[in-house]
Amino acid sequence: MTLGTACHQTTPEEQQTQGETLYQAYCASCHEINQGIGPRLTKQVLATRVSALALFTYNQKNMPYNAGNTLKEEEYWAVTAYLLAREGFLESALVLDAENAEGLRLEQ
Ligand code: HEC
Repeated sequence: MTLGTACHQTTPEEQQTQGETLYQAYCASCHEINQGIGPRLTKQVLATRVSALALFTYNQKNMPYNAGNTLKEEEYWAVTAYLLAREGFLESALVLDAENAEGLRLEQ
């Protein structure tokens, strides 16, 4: 897969598309399949984290289950952005990163 390089500015669409690909590869087997061991990642479930940064940090530390920190940092940003966009938290065009994630509040 082609990832953004230092001189290429990633767009929100590219980040979320990359995140969806990663999600299908590394997360969906537990979170999307009936009887998967992980909970459905609904808007309500995501909203239990205070901010996009908290969700990113949780994912990076703990996911995939028992294999935390096995993706690259930018891949955790992408998968987190995908989940947030899918559940309606990322309405404006935004490339999620360490600068803006704390300000994106998830609690409802
Ligand atoms: C091997 C199965 C498995 C895979 C693969 C997996 N998860 Fe999970 N996930 C779980 C389980 C089990 C839990 C519940 C953990 C707990 O309660 O401690 C969980 C919990 C979560 C939660 C918190 C849900 C809540 O209730 O607050 C998030 C967010 C999450 N996973 C995201 C991801 C992402 C993103 C990926 C891919 C990078 C991923 N998971 C891959 C099994 C998995």
